[in-house]
Amino acid sequence: MAQDLNANLDAYWMPFTANRQFKKAPRLLTRADGMYFTDDKGRQILDGIAGLWCVNAGHNRPKIVKAIQEQAAEMDFAPPFQMGHPKAFELAEKLVQLTPAGLNKVFYTNSGSESVDTALKMAIAYHRVRGEGARTRLIGRERGYHGVNFGGISVGGMVANRKMFGTMLGGVDHIRHTHDPARNAFSVGQPAHGAEFADDLEKLIALHDASTIAAVIVEPVAGSTGVLIPPQGYLQRLRQICDKHGILLIFDEVITGFGRTGNPFAAQTFGVTPDLMTVAKGLTNGCVPMGAVFATQNIYDAFMNGPEHLIEFFHGYTYSAHPLACAAALGTLETYADEGLLTRAAEMQGYFAECLHSLKGEPNVIDIRNIGLIGGVELTPLPGEPAKRAFNVFLDCWDKGLLVRTTGDTVALSPPLVIEREHIDRIIDTLRGALRRAA
Ligand SMILES: Cc1ncc(COP(=O)(O)O)c(C=O)c1O
Repeated sequence: MAQDLNANLDAYWMPFTANRQFKKAPRLLTRADGMYFTDDKGRQILDGIAGLWCVNAGHNRPKIVKAIQEQAAEMDFAPPFQMGHPKAFELAEKLVQLTPAGLNKVFYTNSGSESVDTALKMAIAYHRVRGEGARTRLIGRERGYHGVNFGGISVGGMVANRKMFGTMLGGVDHIRHTHDPARNAFSVGQPAHGAEFADDLEKLIALHDASTIAAVIVEPVAGSTGVLIPPQGYLQRLRQICDKHGILLIFDEVITGFGRTGNPFAAQTFGVTPDLMTVAKGLTNGCVPMGAVFATQNIYDAFMNGPEHLIEFFHGYTYSAHPLACAAALGTLETYADEGLLTRAAEMQGYFAECLHSLKGEPNVIDIRNIGLIGGVELTPLPGEPAKRAFNVFLDCWDKGLLVRTTGDTVALSPPLVIEREHIDRIIDTLRGALRRAA
């Protein structure tokens, strides 16, 4: 049913939004169920991006809704410092059944950005508690996105996220990104070329010396800078170089975690295990804010010394392990398990890839990239107006009842993992029409 919100849109300063454009022609969502949103005009909008890469089980899932409702009535809040509640422990035990072997400690946060800054702090502190306090440098990657906090933007490599905010963290360097359209355009799955981009790390080690470097952080699949799939052998090579030099490897799995690439985590899809792993989004199916950092036993043990009554790691948030978030996450994991969703992308990716790559040859399509249930369609920019063509495609899709996401001139897709073939067909048909109209 259509709703008249009659809202004044003035006071709300919207995040990562073209505020003036939005407020002239608002896109208001009022309900969500399964694969669809409903907007304020009562239109059904097919969700091509799982909300924001988070609603992996689709919207309005009964077990998650019930878990949150019951928890709110049972215990609304419990302090996480020097106190605990049973669901926080139960959830951690369940999570470490899903993580790659060795990542068996869970530190809770409330978002991807907090997970990233937590992991960076953990890495630096880990070396310090081991007596290698000179290892403070952090290495990120060009075109990386690690959220919006100061640590995350410092190791991140998105110019727009960095240029406005001063000098950020000191002692940060970057390896090159892996996007190489000249050799890899229209690759299906992992591109063949580019493992050698990992050797940039050796160059930075030669420049700074390994004894000053704490950690390297990368997204296994870079999402927010245009869906960049790791070249074959690239992540393996990064792992080898880190091992050789005693540097921690951090995977930021905020978008790839919880089934997006066909396994619970991209680390499993690509066969490379990091020392620290950050997650959020799909952890609670997007229903309640929550993130986490997974750490190895070795990292945890390094902190567990000194007098037992003293806090070992001076870090945490008021809302770490919030009861509502833990309940939502438990309901989410149950839903994923009931429906086999953490491996469903592996079953659907063949059809998804075939349909996605059928867009090759449509106007201005210069590259198509995919892995699991992630797709990217890169377009030639409009002359002198970068990002505008993709934005026009986004608006056109919205008009036709499809939600996609754009980053620069790439249209990104990351649908709920409950997607069926007919939804994929509709996403591709709608996008094809929009691409033609944007020509
Ligand atoms: C790889 C990655 N890291 C971190 C974040 C930040 O997460 P949040 O927006 O929950 O802070 C995102 C968000 O999209 C992400 O894609």
